[in-house]
Amino acid sequence: MVRRHRRERRQRVRKSAQIQLADFDRYEFYQKSVQSPEEDVLFLERVYRELKGRDPAHLREDFCGAFALSCAWVRLQDHYRASGIDNDPDPLDYGKTHYLAQLSQDERDRLVLSEQDVLEGPLPGADLVCALNFSYFCFKQRPVLLRYFRSVYASLNEGGLLFLDCFGGSKCCEPNEEETEYEDEQFSYFWDQDSFDPVTNFAQFYIHFKRYGEKKREKVFSYDWRMWSIPELRDLLTEAGFSRTHVYWEGNDEDGEGNGEYSRVSEGEPCEAWVAYIVAEK
Ligand SMILES: C[S@@+](CC[C@H](N)C(=O)[O-])C[C@H]1O[C@@H](n2cnc3c(N)ncnc32)[C@H](O)[C@@H]1O
Repeated sequence: MVRRHRRERRQRVRKSAQIQLADFDRYEFYQKSVQSPEEDVLFLERVYRELKGRDPAHLREDFCGAFALSCAWVRLQDHYRASGIDNDPDPLDYGKTHYLAQLSQDERDRLVLSEQDVLEGPLPGADLVCALNFSYFCFKQRPVLLRYFRSVYASLNEGGLLFLDCFGGSKCCEPNEEETEYEDEQFSYFWDQDSFDPVTNFAQFYIHFKRYGEKKREKVFSYDWRMWSIPELRDLLTEAGFSRTHVYWEGNDEDGEGNGEYSRVSEGEPCEAWVAYIVAEK
Protein backbone atom coordinates (compact mmCIF):
# COMPACT_ATOMS: atom_id res chain seq x y z
CA MET A 1 0.00 0.00 0.00
CA VAL A 2 2.77 2.39 0.98
CA ARG A 3 4.80 1.37 -2.06
CA ARG A 4 1.86 1.99 -4.41
CA HIS A 5 1.32 5.38 -2.88
CA ARG A 6 4.98 6.22 -3.44
CA ARG A 7 4.83 5.07 -7.05
CA GLU A 8 1.77 7.23 -7.72
CA ARG A 9 3.50 10.16 -6.16
CA ARG A 10 6.60 9.58 -8.34
CA GLN A 11 4.39 9.44 -11.42
CA ARG A 12 2.67 12.68 -10.44
CA VAL A 13 6.05 14.36 -9.95
CA ARG A 14 7.30 13.09 -13.31
CA LYS A 15 4.13 14.30 -15.03
CA SER A 16 4.37 17.80 -13.59
CA ALA A 17 8.06 17.97 -14.61
CA GLN A 18 7.03 17.03 -18.15
CA ILE A 19 4.38 19.75 -18.22
CA GLN A 20 6.94 22.28 -17.02
CA LEU A 21 9.45 21.11 -19.65
CA ALA A 22 6.86 21.19 -22.42
CA ASP A 23 5.96 24.67 -21.31
CA PHE A 24 9.54 25.86 -21.73
CA ASP A 25 10.53 25.91 -25.40
CA ARG A 26 14.34 25.93 -25.35
CA TYR A 27 14.67 26.56 -29.09
CA GLU A 28 12.40 29.59 -28.84
CA PHE A 29 14.59 31.10 -26.12
CA TYR A 30 17.74 30.19 -28.09
CA GLN A 31 16.37 31.90 -31.18
CA LYS A 32 15.42 35.06 -29.25
CA SER A 33 18.85 35.22 -27.58
CA VAL A 34 21.44 34.33 -30.18
CA GLN A 35 19.96 34.42 -33.67
CA SER A 36 19.13 37.20 -36.13
CA PRO A 37 18.62 35.32 -39.40
CA GLU A 38 16.94 38.21 -41.28
CA GLU A 39 20.02 40.42 -40.71
CA ASP A 40 22.48 37.58 -41.31
CA VAL A 41 21.18 36.79 -44.79
CA LEU A 42 21.58 40.46 -45.81
CA PHE A 43 25.22 40.33 -44.67
CA LEU A 44 25.84 37.09 -46.63
CA GLU A 45 24.25 38.53 -49.77
CA ARG A 46 26.19 41.83 -49.48
CA VAL A 47 29.57 40.10 -49.02
CA TYR A 48 28.92 37.68 -51.88
CA ARG A 49 28.11 40.61 -54.19
CA GLU A 50 31.13 42.56 -52.92
CA LEU A 51 33.59 39.70 -53.55
CA LYS A 52 32.06 38.06 -56.61
CA GLY A 53 30.36 40.97 -58.38
CA ARG A 54 27.19 38.94 -58.92
CA ASP A 55 24.23 37.50 -57.01
CA PRO A 56 24.38 34.12 -55.27
CA ALA A 57 21.50 31.66 -55.58
CA HIS A 58 22.12 28.57 -53.48
CA LEU A 59 23.07 28.68 -49.79
CA ARG A 60 24.02 25.61 -47.77
CA GLU A 61 23.69 25.92 -44.00
CA ASP A 62 25.93 23.35 -42.32
CA PHE A 63 25.18 22.58 -38.64
CA CYS A 64 21.79 24.13 -39.41
CA GLY A 65 19.97 23.14 -36.20
CA ALA A 66 16.41 24.42 -36.66
CA PHE A 67 17.57 26.05 -39.96
CA ALA A 68 16.28 29.58 -39.28
CA LEU A 69 18.96 30.98 -41.62
CA SER A 70 17.87 28.75 -44.53
CA CYS A 71 14.26 29.87 -44.03
CA ALA A 72 15.30 33.53 -44.10
CA TRP A 73 17.37 32.86 -47.25
CA VAL A 74 14.51 31.40 -49.32
CA ARG A 75 12.34 34.32 -48.17
CA LEU A 76 14.91 36.91 -49.28
CA GLN A 77 14.53 36.41 -53.06
CA ASP A 78 12.08 34.24 -54.91
CA HIS A 79 14.78 32.34 -56.80
CA TYR A 80 17.06 31.69 -53.78
CA ARG A 81 17.50 28.03 -52.77
CA ALA A 82 18.83 26.57 -49.51
CA SER A 83 20.07 23.24 -48.16
CA GLY A 84 20.22 22.62 -44.42
CA ILE A 85 22.41 19.88 -42.91
CA ASP A 86 22.40 18.71 -39.29
CA ASN A 87 23.07 15.32 -37.70
CA ASP A 88 20.53 15.77 -34.88
CA PRO A 89 16.87 15.07 -35.71
CA ASP A 90 15.62 17.04 -32.68
CA PRO A 91 16.37 20.62 -33.89
CA LEU A 92 15.49 19.58 -37.47
CA ASP A 93 12.04 18.41 -36.32
CA TYR A 94 11.59 21.61 -34.32
CA GLY A 95 12.40 23.70 -37.40
CA LYS A 96 9.95 21.67 -39.51
CA THR A 97 7.04 22.31 -37.16
CA HIS A 98 7.89 25.88 -36.15
CA TYR A 99 9.72 27.57 -39.06
CA LEU A 100 9.08 25.53 -42.20
CA ALA A 101 5.36 25.61 -41.48
CA GLN A 102 5.44 29.42 -41.72
CA LEU A 103 6.86 29.41 -45.27
CA SER A 104 4.76 29.54 -48.43
CA GLN A 105 4.62 26.40 -50.59
CA ASP A 106 6.99 28.02 -53.09
CA GLU A 107 9.51 28.85 -50.35
CA ARG A 108 9.28 25.32 -48.95
CA ASP A 109 9.95 23.88 -52.41
CA ARG A 110 13.26 25.76 -52.52
CA LEU A 111 14.50 24.38 -49.19
CA VAL A 112 15.98 20.88 -48.82
CA LEU A 113 16.92 19.39 -45.42
CA SER A 114 19.21 16.52 -44.71
CA GLU A 115 19.90 14.68 -41.46
CA GLN A 116 23.57 14.04 -42.04
CA ASP A 117 27.03 14.37 -40.50
CA VAL A 118 28.84 17.20 -42.31
CA LEU A 119 31.97 15.04 -42.29
CA GLU A 120 30.18 12.34 -44.29
CA GLY A 121 29.91 13.45 -47.89
CA PRO A 122 28.81 14.03 -50.47
CA LEU A 123 27.46 17.44 -49.47
CA PRO A 124 25.13 19.42 -51.75
CA GLY A 125 26.82 21.98 -54.03
CA ALA A 126 26.22 25.68 -53.24
CA ASP A 127 27.36 29.22 -54.01
CA LEU A 128 27.88 29.88 -50.35
CA VAL A 129 28.26 27.58 -47.37
CA CYS A 130 27.79 28.83 -43.80
CA ALA A 131 29.00 27.25 -40.57
CA LEU A 132 27.71 29.79 -38.07
CA ASN A 133 27.31 30.24 -34.35
CA PHE A 134 30.80 28.72 -34.05
CA SER A 135 29.45 25.22 -34.74
CA TYR A 136 32.68 23.95 -36.31
CA PHE A 137 34.44 24.59 -32.95
CA CYS A 138 33.16 21.07 -32.10
CA PHE A 139 35.98 19.74 -34.30
CA LYS A 140 38.77 19.83 -31.75
CA GLN A 141 41.51 18.11 -33.73
CA ARG A 142 43.30 19.87 -36.61
CA PRO A 143 43.07 16.93 -39.08
CA VAL A 144 39.31 16.70 -38.50
CA LEU A 145 38.71 20.41 -39.13
CA LEU A 146 40.96 20.24 -42.20
CA ARG A 147 38.89 17.29 -43.47
CA TYR A 148 35.71 19.35 -43.06
CA PHE A 149 37.20 22.37 -44.88
CA ARG A 150 38.43 20.11 -47.72
CA SER A 151 34.99 18.61 -48.07
CA VAL A 152 33.37 22.10 -48.15
CA TYR A 153 35.92 23.17 -50.78
CA ALA A 154 35.11 20.14 -52.96
CA SER A 155 31.35 20.73 -52.69
CA LEU A 156 31.31 24.49 -53.38
CA ASN A 157 30.38 25.74 -56.85
CA GLU A 158 33.25 27.34 -58.77
CA GLY A 159 34.18 30.63 -57.07
CA GLY A 160 31.91 29.84 -54.10
CA LEU A 161 32.36 31.21 -50.58
CA LEU A 162 32.58 29.64 -47.13
CA PHE A 163 31.41 31.83 -44.20
CA LEU A 164 32.59 31.08 -40.66
CA ASP A 165 32.13 33.12 -37.52
CA CYS A 166 34.74 33.10 -34.81
CA PHE A 167 35.10 34.66 -31.36
CA GLY A 168 37.91 35.43 -28.97
CA GLY A 169 39.47 38.09 -26.77
CA SER A 170 41.13 38.18 -23.36
CA LYS A 171 37.85 37.42 -21.57
CA CYS A 172 37.60 34.05 -23.33
CA CYS A 173 40.82 32.80 -21.72
CA GLU A 174 39.25 32.28 -18.30
CA PRO A 175 35.94 31.09 -16.85
CA ASN A 176 33.26 33.78 -16.83
CA GLU A 177 29.50 34.13 -17.09
CA GLU A 178 27.63 36.95 -18.78
CA GLU A 179 23.95 37.74 -18.28
CA THR A 180 21.88 39.48 -20.95
CA GLU A 181 18.48 40.71 -19.85
CA TYR A 182 15.57 40.67 -22.29
CA GLU A 183 13.21 42.86 -20.31
CA ASP A 184 10.49 42.98 -22.98
CA GLU A 185 10.44 39.18 -23.13
CA GLN A 186 10.80 38.82 -19.33
CA PHE A 187 13.83 36.54 -19.29
CA SER A 188 17.61 36.50 -18.94
CA TYR A 189 20.08 34.66 -21.14
CA PHE A 190 23.40 33.51 -19.65
CA TRP A 191 26.52 32.68 -21.68
CA ASP A 192 28.69 30.66 -19.32
CA GLN A 193 32.29 29.86 -20.15
CA ASP A 194 32.90 27.14 -17.60
CA SER A 195 36.54 26.38 -18.42
CA PHE A 196 39.50 27.19 -20.63
CA ASP A 197 42.70 25.18 -20.97
CA PRO A 198 45.56 27.29 -22.38
CA VAL A 199 47.51 24.16 -23.38
CA THR A 200 44.81 22.78 -25.70
CA ASN A 201 42.50 25.80 -26.10
CA PHE A 202 39.66 23.43 -25.20
CA ALA A 203 36.77 25.19 -23.45
CA GLN A 204 33.37 24.18 -22.06
CA PHE A 205 30.39 26.51 -22.53
CA TYR A 206 26.77 26.46 -21.35
CA ILE A 207 23.67 28.47 -22.06
CA HIS A 208 21.31 29.01 -19.12
CA PHE A 209 17.97 30.83 -19.11
CA LYS A 210 15.92 32.40 -16.35
CA ARG A 211 12.36 33.50 -16.90
CA TYR A 212 11.43 36.29 -14.50
CA GLY A 213 9.82 34.84 -11.38
CA GLU A 214 11.16 31.32 -12.04
CA LYS A 215 14.35 29.57 -11.00
CA LYS A 216 17.30 29.58 -13.38
CA ARG A 217 17.32 26.71 -15.88
CA GLU A 218 20.93 25.54 -15.96
CA LYS A 219 22.80 24.00 -18.90
CA VAL A 220 19.95 24.18 -21.38
CA PHE A 221 22.56 23.96 -24.15
CA SER A 222 26.17 22.85 -23.74
CA TYR A 223 29.19 23.10 -26.04
CA ASP A 224 32.46 21.21 -25.73
CA TRP A 225 34.69 23.23 -28.06
CA ARG A 226 38.17 24.18 -29.09
CA MET A 227 38.76 27.92 -29.39
CA TRP A 228 40.24 28.30 -32.87
CA SER A 229 42.13 31.51 -33.63
CA ILE A 230 41.78 33.53 -36.84
CA PRO A 231 45.33 32.82 -38.09
CA GLU A 232 44.96 29.08 -37.38
CA LEU A 233 41.72 29.04 -39.36
CA ARG A 234 43.16 31.00 -42.29
CA ASP A 235 46.14 28.63 -42.48
CA LEU A 236 43.81 25.62 -42.47
CA LEU A 237 41.57 27.12 -45.15
CA THR A 238 44.58 27.80 -47.39
CA GLU A 239 45.77 24.24 -46.81
CA ALA A 240 42.31 22.96 -47.79
CA GLY A 241 42.66 24.72 -51.16
CA PHE A 242 40.83 28.05 -50.73
CA SER A 243 42.46 30.74 -52.88
CA ARG A 244 41.86 33.76 -50.62
CA THR A 245 40.54 34.38 -47.11
CA HIS A 246 39.09 37.62 -45.72
CA VAL A 247 38.31 38.81 -42.21
CA TYR A 248 35.26 40.96 -41.46
CA TRP A 249 35.62 42.87 -38.19
CA GLU A 250 32.90 44.70 -36.26
CA GLY A 251 32.88 48.52 -36.22
CA ASN A 252 32.45 50.69 -33.11
CA ASP A 253 29.61 52.94 -32.02
CA GLU A 254 30.20 56.31 -30.32
CA ASP A 255 30.69 54.55 -26.92
CA GLY A 256 33.34 52.23 -28.33
CA GLU A 257 30.92 49.25 -28.27
CA GLY A 258 30.40 46.94 -31.25
CA ASN A 259 27.85 48.40 -33.69
CA GLY A 260 26.90 45.17 -35.49
CA GLU A 261 28.36 46.38 -38.80
CA TYR A 262 31.17 44.30 -40.26
CA SER A 263 33.76 45.37 -42.82
CA ARG A 264 36.80 43.76 -44.41
CA VAL A 265 40.04 44.45 -42.53
CA SER A 266 43.69 43.47 -42.61
CA GLU A 267 44.17 44.24 -38.90
CA GLY A 268 41.91 43.87 -35.87
CA GLU A 269 42.08 45.52 -32.48
CA PRO A 270 42.54 43.96 -29.06
CA CYS A 271 39.27 43.74 -27.12
CA GLU A 272 37.96 41.76 -24.17
CA ALA A 273 35.55 39.87 -26.41
CA TRP A 274 35.12 40.04 -30.17
CA VAL A 275 33.16 38.22 -32.86
CA ALA A 276 34.44 38.24 -36.44
CA TYR A 277 33.60 36.54 -39.76
CA ILE A 278 36.08 34.69 -41.93
CA VAL A 279 35.15 34.35 -45.59
CA ALA A 280 37.08 31.89 -47.78
CA GLU A 281 36.94 31.96 -51.57
CA LYS A 282 37.17 28.77 -53.64
C1 LIG B 1 25.71 25.59 -32.01
S1 LIG B 1 24.41 24.73 -32.85
C2 LIG B 1 24.19 25.86 -34.19
C3 LIG B 1 22.82 25.85 -34.80
C4 LIG B 1 22.60 26.94 -35.87
N1 LIG B 1 23.55 26.82 -36.95
C5 LIG B 1 22.70 28.35 -35.31
O1 LIG B 1 23.25 29.20 -35.97
O2 LIG B 1 22.21 28.62 -34.24
C6 LIG B 1 25.33 23.40 -33.54
C7 LIG B 1 24.54 22.40 -34.38
O3 LIG B 1 25.49 21.55 -35.05
C8 LIG B 1 24.97 20.23 -35.10
N2 LIG B 1 26.12 19.33 -35.32
C9 LIG B 1 27.14 19.05 -34.46
N3 LIG B 1 28.03 18.23 -35.04
C10 LIG B 1 27.58 17.98 -36.31
C11 LIG B 1 28.06 17.22 -37.39
N4 LIG B 1 29.21 16.53 -37.31
N5 LIG B 1 27.35 17.19 -38.54
C12 LIG B 1 26.18 17.89 -38.64
N6 LIG B 1 25.67 18.63 -37.65
C13 LIG B 1 26.36 18.68 -36.48
C14 LIG B 1 24.25 20.07 -33.78
O4 LIG B 1 23.27 19.07 -33.85
C15 LIG B 1 23.64 21.48 -33.59
O5 LIG B 1 22.34 21.54 -34.12
